[in-house]
Amino acid sequence: MKAYSVENTQYAHAMGHLLALYTQVDQFIMETCAERIATAPGHDARMGLAKQVGDECRHVTIQQQWMQTFCVDQTPVIDKRSIEHLHAHFRALDWVDFLTDLYLVVEALGSQAVEQVVPLADPGTRESLRVPLQDELDHVAFGLSELQKALDGMDVLERQARLDKIPARIQRLFDRLNDLDVPVQEWFEQVGTSPLQLHAVLDRRREELVAGLAA
Ligand SMILES: [Fe+2]
Ligand SMILES: [Fe+2]
Repeated sequence: MKAYSVENTQYAHAMGHLLALYTQVDQFIMETCAERIATAPGHDARMGLAKQVGDECRHVTIQQQWMQTFCVDQTPVIDKRSIEHLHAHFRALDWVDFLTDLYLVVEALGSQAVEQVVPLADPGTRESLRVPLQDELDHVAFGLSELQKALDGMDVLERQARLDKIPARIQRLFDRLNDLDVPVQEWFEQVGTSPLQLHAVLDRRREELVAGLAA
């Protein structure tokens, strides 16, 4: 496994774009969670979302500071219109679908992808990801426990019907994110990630998440 340095221009450009993307996604999550606080079912869910808003705010600040030091082009990589469409998508979801899309796909699979980059990253980038990735573990745990709670509150048939739909939901959002005009896979490759390995890791994680919910 080759570790890259900031002197490598292709690496620096690609890592810069990935950092800008991660920051933009964190900002998106922060806004999405903030909007859900008032309507989330129950005290724990509202407190969890509120805590997460604070965490994501901290991540955005850490990443912005590091991008400045790293002299990264901070232009958002997802265009404004696509972000608005994604906000509209999340606003329209009921609680179970919201948890599925936000925590299984964006948080769990998203941070799994970021985790793959950490061993390949330069020391400054690695340090900038340390606190955020630690917090993402809490966010995934919160989302999974809320999802489990919501599923456990359903009768057997309804629960099974929702569970059966989850793999297709994950795939649909994945395809939707892939359709955004953002060459994420190219950037991952340029920072040294093997696309095959990345796909294998994400597939495994996806299966593990779905199996964990059904257990
Ligand atoms: Fe985050
Ligand atoms: Fe998060």
